[in-house]
Amino acid sequence: MEPDLSALGHLGNTSVVGLQWGDEGKGKIVDLLTGQFDYAVRWNGGSNAGHSVQVGAVKYAFHLIPSGILHPHCICVLANGVVIDPIQLVQEIDALAGQGLELRDKLRISSQAHVVLPHHKLQDQLSEGRLGNQRLGTTARGIGPCYADKALRAGALRMADLIDEDRLRSRLPVIVSEKNRLLQRLYDAEPLAWEPIFEQYRGCAEQLREHVCDTTDLLQEAWRNHRRLLFEGANAVLLDLDHGTFPFVTSSNCGTGLSAGAGVPGAALTSILGVAKAYCTRVGAGPFPTEQNNAIGEHLRQRGHEYGTTTGRPRRCGWLDLVALRYAVRVCGVTGLCLMLLDVLSGMDALRLCTAYRHAGRYTEGFPPDAYDLARAEPVYETLPGWSESLEDTTRRADLPANARRYLERIEAFVQTPIRMVSVGAARHQTMTC
Ligand code: GDP
Ligand code: IMO
Ligand code: MG
Repeated sequence: MEPDLSALGHLGNTSVVGLQWGDEGKGKIVDLLTGQFDYAVRWNGGSNAGHSVQVGAVKYAFHLIPSGILHPHCICVLANGVVIDPIQLVQEIDALAGQGLELRDKLRISSQAHVVLPHHKLQDQLSEGRLGNQRLGTTARGIGPCYADKALRAGALRMADLIDEDRLRSRLPVIVSEKNRLLQRLYDAEPLAWEPIFEQYRGCAEQLREHVCDTTDLLQEAWRNHRRLLFEGANAVLLDLDHGTFPFVTSSNCGTGLSAGAGVPGAALTSILGVAKAYCTRVGAGPFPTEQNNAIGEHLRQRGHEYGTTTGRPRRCGWLDLVALRYAVRVCGVTGLCLMLLDVLSGMDALRLCTAYRHAGRYTEGFPPDAYDLARAEPVYETLPGWSESLEDTTRRADLPANARRYLERIEAFVQTPIRMVSVGAARHQTMTC
């Protein structure tokens, strides 16, 4: 059974972004909306993302492939701003082929997207190991080192280099040798040999070559021809390199940055849908004012199955932080909210919402941009009554228990943004539109 999305009306070019610390349910929303779109575009991040889509009894976990892939008519694009681990991408393509999904005419990969190399993953792990209890808790997918090399330029490899065997053969030995010098001196690492990397990456290039093109041109052409574009943000605003809880962030812009990552100006968008859980989670280190390191957090983790899609790590859980949510909405210019996992809150007597912080003796409704300050901010809570009914079968917002409706209304009033979708289960049909 498919949900009735008619209340959303006609969505023009739309961006879907995560508003918290990731794993809000972006994959589910993108899968649902893709039926209305011609292109589904990833424009940031890499295989640190883990986007789950559940169709009937089948569960998919996408790391690089856009979550729109299950819709046969839709072209899926990995644009310039994505960092691509070719080994992971080939694995995902093969796994989908094993499930009967052939990507030949559906996948386009930017020739200008940067390639994650084995030394990026190694450097990520070694750096985290060296930092000890000051580690960031990265996904160890080589994301930070790859984006760093992109910014440094000299040691970087792009998809255009990967699929041209001569270029790969001439660039790789230089890149690997430079990186070996660095990793040996910094971490006493064993040097990597470039030849096996060349062989493995040449094999991946064989499989990926047919998908590689100028995706900026492709998307510009599609936009001019009034084709419908859906952009899938990876990671989330509070993990954004410039606007998140630095340094406990990822290495790309996640809420902001779409025009750089996709080569399509923000003016092309008519809707920006922000995805948020009805509570908060975070994986990895960093401040989380409303974290419940107690029975409440454990209850949310068990009910919400809060374990990472990419790393399997238990997610830290806590109350919904409206101060952080409003900040994220404003930074991205969100036009509508998708509120996810509302079902998880059923059965709790009272629900707390953070509406301000107390910090250094002061009361503030603003989100401190500095992680050090945020770590010391004490949440100020409002308490709303909970509801006991299970929500999994509810199909209209008006049919939700009165206290659940009150919870949604309080969120809208605080954040000053309408809720357009409410999700009460992982399945497609467990979604209401408003
Ligand atoms: P993403 O990274 O933002 O795409 O989110 P993830 O896929 O990493 O994590 C969201 C998890 O919540 C996935 O396991 C989804 O299947 C699941 N999920 C999505 N929406 C709902 C919902 O409304 N209720 C419940 N219980 N689970 C949901
Ligand atoms: P999706 O798209 C949750 C977190 C990591 C770590 C920090 C830096 O599934 O929502 P990185 O490997 O990017 O250098 O890690 O960012 N992180 C995510 N957490 N969901 C994600 O993506 C994440 N992407 C990165 O846990 O704290
Ligand atoms: Mg995820």
